[in-house]
Amino acid sequence: MGIEDIVKTGVAIVGGGPAGLLLSQRLHLEGVDNVVLECRSREHVLGRVRAGVLEWGSVEVLRDSDVGGRLDIDGHEHDGADIVWGGEHRLTIDTKKYADRPMMAYGQTNITEDLYAARAAMGGIVVDEAERVTLHDIDTHHPSVGYTKNGDSHRIDCVFIAGCDGFHGVSRQSIPRTERREFEKEYPFGWLGILSETPPLPDLIYANSERGFALCSMRNPMLSRYYIQCELDTNLDDWPDERFWEELKLRFPRNIGDAIVTGASIEKSIAPLRSFVSEPMSYGRLFLAGDAAHIVPPTGAKGLNLAISDVFYLSRALVAQIKHGDERYLSSYSDMALRRVWGAARFSWWLTGLLHRFPAQGSFDLRAQQQELSYLASSDAHMRSVCEQYAGLPFEDLT
Ligand code: APR
Ligand code: PHB
Repeated sequence: MGIEDIVKTGVAIVGGGPAGLLLSQRLHLEGVDNVVLECRSREHVLGRVRAGVLEWGSVEVLRDSDVGGRLDIDGHEHDGADIVWGGEHRLTIDTKKYADRPMMAYGQTNITEDLYAARAAMGGIVVDEAERVTLHDIDTHHPSVGYTKNGDSHRIDCVFIAGCDGFHGVSRQSIPRTERREFEKEYPFGWLGILSETPPLPDLIYANSERGFALCSMRNPMLSRYYIQCELDTNLDDWPDERFWEELKLRFPRNIGDAIVTGASIEKSIAPLRSFVSEPMSYGRLFLAGDAAHIVPPTGAKGLNLAISDVFYLSRALVAQIKHGDERYLSSYSDMALRRVWGAARFSWWLTGLLHRFPAQGSFDLRAQQQELSYLASSDAHMRSVCEQYAGLPFEDLT
């Protein structure tokens, strides 16, 4: 197969999800050439429904990347979230009060749309439906990425490669197995989620109920997102809307359940819960960001926020190296990003444990879980620590 087309660029970005697109946008704003390769169609990427709560640090990075316009108009700023348990107790994770910063509800689907629009407006190069993407010579000074499109072969010669191709991508797998260490945890349940064009509750509310976890969330004043904990082998066909609404309401105290406005779902899906971290996040000229390097369970909505903080660190590091010959940020990228990743990985694991019912949970575990919720409701010290993490740990700089 002959190479038909060779392009040279500074950074070849594999993956056009939020991580890849945001990195492309930030590099472009700093005058660093880059090309994004996305294996799926634009329609597919924009059709994915994912989480929708942003830490304030993420909001600031998006604004700083010139993609905060619609977010500032349509995003719903709020002071945190509530947790209900035992059918009657309620506490508030008030990030505004305890961590001095609010949260923002704004869907990942909207962020991806905003990023695609910004890339197009600036003339950024995003290749959709790039097939058979392969990484070459990543441990040399002349790495490249090959792909085919419409049957033609292409090659991108670059200075660096950013692996932003999600959990199932090729980038992480391009690092020799002996050079990677993987940490993984699978949870014995999933989340059954729906999106409905109904007004959401005014607050984001998590429930730990004897029937399992549930969550009322929001996208905009006429779009709501709800989830219930489900078994891993759950079949979507067994969950018509009526059954979902009935089960959701049963997991909340009566007054909250009654306030939920039901309607036809416009999306329904099941996601298993998993924690995964691959170390290190760089190898030679390849740098991983976002889901390519780590997955967190959705509890606490850290996945997108971590992708944004990785990109903040990586864009700063690539710009320092390429424009100023300063390699300190790039050489510390993996360690710095991983510290924040582990902070969120630990928090998501902890919050998952606090709010779900586990199949093997004995009476002692159950009491300990209820006790932790009561303690959180009564201790300022514990609440402050939880709020600091829910609101998002700070970004680091070199010391
Ligand atoms: N070549 C090119 N692109 C690829 C390849 C490949 N071999 N494999 C996967 N991709 C693309 C996917 O189609 C997807 O669009 O990479 C993109 C990765 O995007 P995401 O999976 O959204 O990951 P990321 O950008 O890191 O965003 C993290 O997504 O999964 C959520 O909770 C997570 O909100 C977080 C966010
Ligand atoms: C969501 O709105 O999708 C969401 C909100 C909060 C979470 C997880 C998901 O903790």
